[in-house]
Amino acid sequence: MDIGIIGGTGPAGRGLGLRLAAAGMSVAIGSRDPARAAGVVDEMAARWAGRLGGSLSGVGNVEATGGKLVVLATPWDAAVRTVAELGDRLEGKVLVSMANALVREGQEMVPLFHPRGSVAAAVQAAAPGAKVAAAFHHLPAREMADLDSGLVADVLVCADDPEATGETMSLVERIEGLRPLDAGSLSQAAAIEAFTAVCVTLNIRHRAHSTLKLAGI
Ligand SMILES: NC(=O)c1ccc[n+]([C@@H]2O[C@H](COP(=O)([O-])OP(=O)(O)OC[C@H]3O[C@@H](n4cnc5c(N)ncnc54)[C@H](OP(=O)(O)O)[C@@H]3O)[C@@H](O)[C@H]2O)c1
Repeated sequence: MDIGIIGGTGPAGRGLGLRLAAAGMSVAIGSRDPARAAGVVDEMAARWAGRLGGSLSGVGNVEATGGKLVVLATPWDAAVRTVAELGDRLEGKVLVSMANALVREGQEMVPLFHPRGSVAAAVQAAAPGAKVAAAFHHLPAREMADLDSGLVADVLVCADDPEATGETMSLVERIEGLRPLDAGSLSQAAAIEAFTAVCVTLNIRHRAHSTLKLAGI
């Protein structure tokens, strides 16, 4: 298994898993309920038959930690508890946090500020033996889940561990249309996560499906 996605049955995990499987990787979609994961994978495989160079499987979250790299795709307020429950299974692994702590207020999204600075920092504290990176925050799940969407986007990656940065950037590079950008240490995750509120608000106000693309770099 190349990639395990904890909480992979939601729109974000499915979209990412699909793109990685289309890029030839072996991806396990994890769930609290392995039967639910299997059902989600069956649906995806049926829709994209013939388009997946790699493979998809549906597993429990515990099994998903067997990936060479593990992605955490639960809602932000379940991230710390989920990781803590997995105990030392994440020891030594690169663990990518994609959670955004946001709340909708009328026609806009506003960020919630985690006591540890970011969800990614809280995940790192809950799994001290893991090499946590933060990435994929600004990608629209709907476009990720549609291989015909022609998605083009930059993906900001930050981590304290150079291996976590490097492996996460290599993963992003596997996906057609995505460009990884090294955005620095895990301290940057606070701003990266919060900026998602701006991205989503722009999409609400302009009825758009925009992605993040930085000029001049
Ligand atoms: N949606 C987007 O466009 C997008 C884009 C970038 C980043 N993100 C971030 O990616 C993460 C996932 O987004 P999403 O929209 O896919 O979220 P979601 O659908 O709300 O949740 C994803 C999965 O997490 C599991 N889950 C839900 N509540 C849980 C709990 N209390 N404890 C443990 N597991 C739980 C569920 O899987 P099971 O029931 O199968 O266990 C669910 O399918 C979020 O943190 C979000 O901020 C989202």
